[in-house]
Amino acid sequence: MLEKIDDLLTEVQNFQSSSKDEIEQFRIRFNGKKGIMTDFYDFLKQVPNDQKKVAGQKINTLKVAVNDKLEALKSASESTLILEKEDLTRPAFPLELGSRHPINLVKNKIIDIFKSIGFAVADGPEIEDDWHNFTALNLPEYHPARDMQDTFFIEQNPDVLLRTHTSSVQIRYMEENEPPMRILAPGRVFRNEAVSSRSHCIFHQIEGLYIDENVSFADLKQTIQFFTTELFGKSKIRMRPSYFPFTEPSAEVDVYWGLNSETDYRITKGTGWLEIMGCGMVDPAVLKNVNIDPDKFSGYAFGMGIERIVMLLYQMSDIRMFFENDIRMLEQFKPL
Ligand code: PHE
Repeated sequence: MLEKIDDLLTEVQNFQSSSKDEIEQFRIRFNGKKGIMTDFYDFLKQVPNDQKKVAGQKINTLKVAVNDKLEALKSASESTLILEKEDLTRPAFPLELGSRHPINLVKNKIIDIFKSIGFAVADGPEIEDDWHNFTALNLPEYHPARDMQDTFFIEQNPDVLLRTHTSSVQIRYMEENEPPMRILAPGRVFRNEAVSSRSHCIFHQIEGLYIDENVSFADLKQTIQFFTTELFGKSKIRMRPSYFPFTEPSAEVDVYWGLNSETDYRITKGTGWLEIMGCGMVDPAVLKNVNIDPDKFSGYAFGMGIERIVMLLYQMSDIRMFFENDIRMLEQFKPL
């Protein structure tokens, strides 16, 4: 009986087929209930004990060879199945290209414009302390101007809050660096305001700061004029007197948008002018708070809301769309 094993081993090793039926017949011949392997197992029971070990090993070699062969045939037929089903020359599914959020598109554009005239980008935390968001910016406790910005507090005494403006980055940057300095600080800001089509409790600002010797209001005006020309293609601006605790004098900047269309009338409320930012000369008290000598250095700062500018540039009418993550809106900003 055992002498048959060598021939069977050769037969098993040489067996090749891609036909399902032939493979199945091969399986039944060896591994079926009445197959060759069963015969060997029955035979093994009758082998005298002292020869069982050797016989068992031989039979086992055959068993392993049969099972290995069946495994190999099975995986080979599976891969030919895939090859038959799939057309491997077919082009791959296109990768979905993402797109930049319109806020980032406009933010990057604004950064590019200011970079071209020497501004660097600075960053600060969204969770702020009272010093950087208020006190150092010349807004002492109980100052009525704090009411201009409704604050989300995280903790009180000492106060930890969500920054209400990016002006806090001015303070952080001036504390850490020496003039001359020229920075832009883009980022999210938070105010406890009712959400409507025109305002949101989260929005984005870009802050600008320039400190050097002999910086004047004329520098501020020229810089802003350069900016509006680059961004909107409109160079006519006006500066209206305003108030911010951290700048003196302070101004609100309007761009002359024109009255050439129905939309122009609507977005400028019939005046032709659009307000785009707050600005002014950095108050000497602020410079003192960050240990910069106000007799030696002066500078300007400005701050603008990004959403408003995006809405203007892309003719969007509802600020809530920026935060809804609706693919149908975001897709429209896909790169070509
Ligand atoms: N921080 C001001 C605001 O949020 C804007 C501003 C920045 C004004 C810098 C003047 C200078 O309204």
